[in-house]
Amino acid sequence: MKLGQEGEAKRPETVFLRIGLVCVFALVTGVVVLPMASQHQATWWSSICGALGLGVGNPTPPPPFTAPSQLGSLVSWTRQTDGLLRGGDASRGQALAAATCTACHAAAARAVDASVPYLDGFSRRTIYKELVDYRSGRRVAPIMNNVARTLSDDRMRDLAAYYAHEQREAGLRHSTADTDAGRADPIVKLVYQGDPSRDIAPCASCHGPDGVVAGAPVLFGQSETYLSAQLHAFRDGTRHNDTLAQMRTPAHALDDREIHELAAYLGPSASLSTP
Ligand code: HEC
Ligand code: HEC
Repeated sequence: MKLGQEGEAKRPETVFLRIGLVCVFALVTGVVVLPMASQHQATWWSSICGALGLGVGNPTPPPPFTAPSQLGSLVSWTRQTDGLLRGGDASRGQALAAATCTACHAAAARAVDASVPYLDGFSRRTIYKELVDYRSGRRVAPIMNNVARTLSDDRMRDLAAYYAHEQREAGLRHSTADTDAGRADPIVKLVYQGDPSRDIAPCASCHGPDGVVAGAPVLFGQSETYLSAQLHAFRDGTRHNDTLAQMRTPAHALDDREIHELAAYLGPSASLSTP
């Protein structure tokens, strides 16, 4: 009996059967169970095909997620930046502006080219931030990228002191926002109340007379052509130096007619200012 059992265990068919069972177990585990447990394949069938090296289903992993650039600018508002800006010398800035900037950036009343913005009345931070963004390439406009590359921080702070010292006359005109007709106007509403149903915060919640949010430019009295071009650029994403998409977000919700009418309302020909 004992002899018979040993003889049976050593029979070649039994050994092959055991080896076969181990192979089947390994195959099922490697090709079916493990791939199905994996999170990377879309379906159990594509999982199995993927494990066999067959390009069926969804064998290539999806490309890594890249968030749209919300970073915008690299400028931060620190005591050091404010200290630098406070040290600006307006008369040195005026001399530098007369030599290098006023050929293009005339004051509103003397505008030479409507596509060039007026800089008078901007806060020091706005002038400085835009120049730094042009220098770093975060804001793209070849003319200004070349100009800004020649400017040191000290020159930028002098220019900022000079332009902040100048007044923008159009910004002092009387407002229509506090009249009944003004309050009923959908464009005036956008500026002072925004449109919560479309996630548009009031323009004036960030753009005050002195740029309420750090770096937000004064809009009133700005060239109409320039305002319209910038709103389009923010909406299309070709201008993206606004920190955390503060400006791309509202611009994205505006249609062409609103951009046109906002630029007309804010531009120098409108008889208004902040309320
Ligand atoms: C050859 C013409 C030219 C010269 C010279 C020039 N600029 Fe400009 N500047 C432009 C144009 C055009 C734009 C608008 C570019 C854009 O669309 O981003 C601009 C934009 C700017 C802006 C952004 C304003 C805003 O509303 O965001 C600042 C700040 C500025 N320039 C400062 C200067 C200073 C300071 C100088 C002199 C050191 C200077 N520029 C010289 C043509 C010029
Ligand atoms: C959440 C704050 C915020 C709101 C709301 C906002 N803006 Fe802005 N806007 C900014 C900031 C900040 C900038 C400057 C971006 C940069 O750093 O260059 C800017 C820039 C702009 C510019 C470019 C001006 C220039 O001189 O280059 C225009 C035009 C503009 N905004 C119009 C509007 C209008 C119109 C609305 C309302 C429909 C609006 N903004 C709502 C924050 C805001």
